[in-house]
Parts: sequence; C-alpha cells; structure tokens
Amino acid sequence: PSVKSSLIEPDGGAVVDLVLPESERGTKALEAESMPKVRLTKIDVEWVHMISEGWASPLRGFMRENEYLQSLHFNSLRMADGTVVNMSLPIVLAIGDETKGSIGSSKNVALVTPDGDLIGILRRKNSKNVGYKTTAPGLPYFEECITPAGNWLIGGDLEVLKPIKYNDGLDHYRLSPQQLRKEFDRRQADAVFAFQLRNPVHNGHALLMNDTRRRLLEMGYKNPILLLHPLGGFTKADDVPLDVRMEQHSKVLEDGVLDPKTTIVSIFPSPMHYAGPTEVQWHAKARINAGANFYIVGRDPAGMGHPTEMRGLYDPDHGKKVLSMAPGLEKLNILPFRVAAYDTMARKMAFFDPSRSQDFLFISGTKMRTHARNGENPPDGFMCPGGWKVLVQYYESLQVE
Ligand code: ADX
Repeated sequence: PSVKSSLIEPDGGAVVDLVLPESERGTKALEAESMPKVRLTKIDVEWVHMISEGWASPLRGFMRENEYLQSLHFNSLRMADGTVVNMSLPIVLAIGDETKGSIGSSKNVALVTPDGDLIGILRRKNSKNVGYKTTAPGLPYFEECITPAGNWLIGGDLEVLKPIKYNDGLDHYRLSPQQLRKEFDRRQADAVFAFQLRNPVHNGHALLMNDTRRRLLEMGYKNPILLLHPLGGFTKADDVPLDVRMEQHSKVLEDGVLDPKTTIVSIFPSPMHYAGPTEVQWHAKARINAGANFYIVGRDPAGMGHPTEMRGLYDPDHGKKVLSMAPGLEKLNILPFRVAAYDTMARKMAFFDPSRSQDFLFISGTKMRTHARNGENPPDGFMCPGGWKVLVQYYESLQVE
C-alpha cells in the first residue's frame, strides 16, 4: 500500500512529467520525422529538461503568449481555479525568421538538439514577435542566449522522447523532482530545507545551512533533511565549473562541515540568468516542486557584479525581501539570512555584526580566486581544507593552459 506523502504540494497539485513512456517513443519519433524541425541551443535543451521533469510545474511546455505576458508582468501565473503560482522567469523558445518560415502553418514542430538528435515535440504553434532585446552588453545570459536568439517565440505543449542526459559522469546527481520527493519520503523527512548555490561551499554558507537545521529542530521537527542543490546548467565563464564544484561539495561532506546523514546532494539542472530578485523566485519555486518546504536565502542571491560599473547589479538585500513577498510563494517558508563574513576575532565565518565591522573580512569570489591562484591559503576557518584543495587544483590547472 502506498503511504501518502506529507511533503509540500507541488504547484498545480501534481509534478508535471512530460517524458513519454517507452512504449510510445517509437511512434512519436516516427510522427516527429514529418514535422518541421526547430534546432535548439544548449540552453534551450536545459529548459526542455527543466520543463519535462516538472521543475516549472504546472507549466507543460514553452510559454505561450498569455503565459509569457503573465510571467513578464506579474512574475506569476493564474490557474483556471483562480490560484496563483509563482513564475518569475519567462521560459520561452526563440526562433529566427528562417525557422519561422519553414514552420509555416504547421501546428506541431519537432525539437532537435544542437547535435541534430530528435528530443521532443512541441504541439500547437503560437508565435509572436517580442521586443525584449533592449539591454546593455556584458550580461552573461543575454550574451549567451538572448542576443543571438531569433525575433520570434514559439509556445506549446512539450513531449520529450527520452530523459535528458549529459553523459558527463554527473547524471546520477541529476535527480528529478519526482525522484527527490521519493527520496525525502523514503528518509521520512518531516521538513525539507533547500539551499541553492552556484559557488563552492565556504563555511559562511555552511553556517546558514547548519543554523537552519538547528532552528528546525527547535521548532519541533524531528527529521529535517537538507537539499544541497548546486545549479548545473549554463553559468558565466568565471564561475567554478560544475564538475569541480561537485568534487568540492563532496569534500565538504567528507570533512564533516555538513552532515552526510541528513543531507542530499543533487544537481539543479537549470541555466543561470543572474537575474537577482527575479531569478531567486524561480530558484525557490522550483524547489517547492521538488518537495522543499523551507528555502534558505542570504546575501545577493543570483547576483553578480555590474558589467560596466564598479558595483553589484542588485541591492544585496532585495533578493530576500522580494522572496518574502513574492506572489505564489506563500506556502513556502522563506528563511532569510544576514550576510556572513570572516570574523577575525573569532577566526571563523560568522554573521556580520555592524557594531564591530572592522573585525570582519569579506572574502569575495574574486579574492578567493586570487588566493587560490597565488597558492595562498585563505584565513583559517574560511573553508574546510579538503574543499579548498579542490579549488587550488582547479585554478592551478587554469594557469597551465
Ligand atoms: S547564487 O547565485 O546561487 O545565489 P551563491 O552560490 O553565491 O549564488 O549563493 C548561494 C546562497 O548563499 C544564496 O542564498 C546567497 O544569498 C547565499 N550567500 C552567499 N554568500 C553569502 C554570505 N557571505 N552571507 C550570507 N549569505 C550568502
């Protein structure tokens, strides 16, 4: 007998699963052969992956015009029954004039990877001209994805011919929302707290996660499980690559900074937009679908430096403020955290205390890279030695090239 899950309800009531059962794949592939083809970029494939596994539930395909407009202007979607789910990133498929011409009046299109493999079908065409290519150069997602993209968006229902794999030795870390839910249930989690990250774990991050666990136990939860959930899709060139981060995260668990018994490490396959307060909503929303009912947010989530000015792109406090007010995220418990920095008196990472600001050292990504590149150690207690070693080796390997 199946036990009813006590996990948070996914957006729309069920986790969307658009990967066709094996028995249907042959006939659908045959059908797709006769459809006009749309060649996807690497990032489009990442979005196919996200949509097909239900991270974006209740979304069932690339956005149509009405979904796109709601997402763009309201950061949310209104369901037929009047409920509102969060949807802060327009998840769209752009095509060029030539592809649009080749599609003509065809209702369905076949989706093909950059290598030419057929991976899915998009049903019911609905393309519209959009004018959102008005931005300054230098923003990574724009340069990679938006600038070269075509002028048209095509939306519809998605069917995926087989699960998306990357064959990079890390696929076993890519658990779908359904697989994660199953694992949380198997472990009998009574609370799941998610930590989104795209950087190596330093002891400041660990402070947030361990403090959350302590608070949840205090609140009366008996078995809170941490979802350590590094982002695995597109990232900017100077971010640490996924394989190196995964190795670093393993060391953090081996070195006992986080408790392996109450932690699940998995890859969040989304591409990164660096859209700050807008994107952090997507990061949180997708984790609801994976079964998390608590979400940790700290300083400047999904942020980055301004491409042309000497400042951050976003106010570092806006992410957590926006998340606490975001439409459609009411059922998620947001855990906002103050900034953590290196306390030179206590010789460890601690929450910043403005009354003795001179005692604190902010170790930025750039500073960390400089240390690692010059073979210098960061101050004791900044990161576990095993994790630091992984980074030093990575930056050394860059210098060799
Ligand atoms: S992000 O793009 O995934 O948000 P990052 O990996 O740097 O970037 O951050 C992961 C999470 O840790 C985010 O919630 C972020 O706000 C938080 N965070 C990162 N550094 C700090 C810090 N020094 N103090 C507090 N929170 C932090």
